[in-house]
Amino acid sequence: MTIPVLEVQQLAVEVAGQPLLYPLDLSIEAGEVVGLVGESGSGKTMTSLAIFQLLDASLTQHGSIRLNGEELTTMSDKALRQRRGNELAMIMQNPMTAFSPLYTIGYQFIELIRQHSACTKKQATQRACAALADVQLQAPEKLLTLYPFELSGGMLQRVMIAFAAVLRPKLIIADEPTTALDLYNQKEVLKHLEHIRVTHQTAILLISHDLSVIAEMADRVLVMEKGHVVEATDVVSLFQAPQHPYTQHLIKARLTVPALEEGL
Ligand SMILES: Nc1ncnc2c1ncn2[C@@H]1O[C@H](COP(=O)(O)OP(=O)(O)OP(=O)(O)O)[C@@H](O)[C@H]1O
Ligand SMILES: [Mg+2]
Repeated sequence: MTIPVLEVQQLAVEVAGQPLLYPLDLSIEAGEVVGLVGESGSGKTMTSLAIFQLLDASLTQHGSIRLNGEELTTMSDKALRQRRGNELAMIMQNPMTAFSPLYTIGYQFIELIRQHSACTKKQATQRACAALADVQLQAPEKLLTLYPFELSGGMLQRVMIAFAAVLRPKLIIADEPTTALDLYNQKEVLKHLEHIRVTHQTAILLISHDLSVIAEMADRVLVMEKGHVVEATDVVSLFQAPQHPYTQHLIKARLTVPALEEGL
């Protein structure tokens, strides 16, 4: 039997004894997209930060998180830093805050690559350019000389995907990767994520409050409500026969979204 890329068992989070996230199980195989859906405040970002081992120090975390069989919850900070980037990458909702405004895209990209692999500046530049070309950004050499504020939100989000994919991580967590974008750029971002999944068999945890995004991309879905996973199923069953009243409510609420009909 193959080991799942990510295996989360009984993950729970609390603050001063008050539960925020109730015990949750989740596993993702290579090449699989698992969706995490739920309304604002349901615990989606908290789940992703816990997997990343980046929860606020005021929060207590329980349970097991294994990445390629390695337990992350007991790993040293140094080992974790090495895993982040190489094995595990994150794409966040707001590309404007994900980059430092002080340095060029090229400086930040080359730093990232060189922190995680032994290569010369020239080799790192070549890898950065190839990763930018992969997400169909034109003139990557020129792009490397620009500062984040010189790019549009849609372009920056594509740059973030290039950052996430360049080290060929086994798992990408994409937390609301399309929410800040217009419809055209949403489609583009999903297309690039799909390309990465297919080309490199990357496992993807796709977080969204938008069911049409989940319908288009995910193989399986976890539905969260107020810190609980209320439904975990494959994407077709979720839409054809939602079991939980909250899921039924979510599906009714999104029926007007046209992207879903195209996606299914
Ligand atoms: N550091 C913290 N201390 C205490 N409570 C927190 C902390 N961080 C988040 N919360 C609470 O945990 C709950 C889950 O938040 P989370 O950010 O995971 O929601 P979400 O599902 O990602 O929502 P959204 O769709 O708005 O991004 C919320 O009620 C939030 O207020
Ligand atoms: Mg969130």
